[in-house]
Amino acid sequence: MKFSHNKPTDTAWGPDPYADKDRIRDFFEYRDLGIMEATDGLVNAQLVRAKSQPVDGTGWHNHQLNFHIVYMIKGWAKFMYDDKVTLVEAGDTVHQQPGLKHFLFDYSPDMEYLEIASPGNFGTKHVTPPEGAVIPPVGIWPTKE
Ligand SMILES: [Fe+2]
Repeated sequence: MKFSHNKPTDTAWGPDPYADKDRIRDFFEYRDLGIMEATDGLVNAQLVRAKSQPVDGTGWHNHQLNFHIVYMIKGWAKFMYDDKVTLVEAGDTVHQQPGLKHFLFDYSPDMEYLEIASPGNFGTKHVTPPEGAVIPPVGIWPTKE
């Protein structure tokens, strides 16, 4: 464990450097906040933002970890948590307990959230949909002029 002070220019936006094969999302960009290195992998804190229009979302999955929260900084995202549609907007905090079945299926063009998880290199598994879960259609992003 060591002190860390990460400035916005210290780490670049890009693909999730810690994603495993079931957690590769090319429709999002990530910025490492230096916490993985500072905590020797105990905790990961990263920013996540929308990169391209939602299509198939994350699919149904859960994570093998001890702690996981999402704090929405800008915009919004729609999740399925078990069979419930949940709108997570700027200013909202979500605690995702270990093993929770979820599916991030829609998000705004300006979506940006802080994700904190422990251990930092947690596992992800694709899972079968919960009984009765129905994914609503996703919104279409406005086209740029
Ligand atoms: Fe997830």
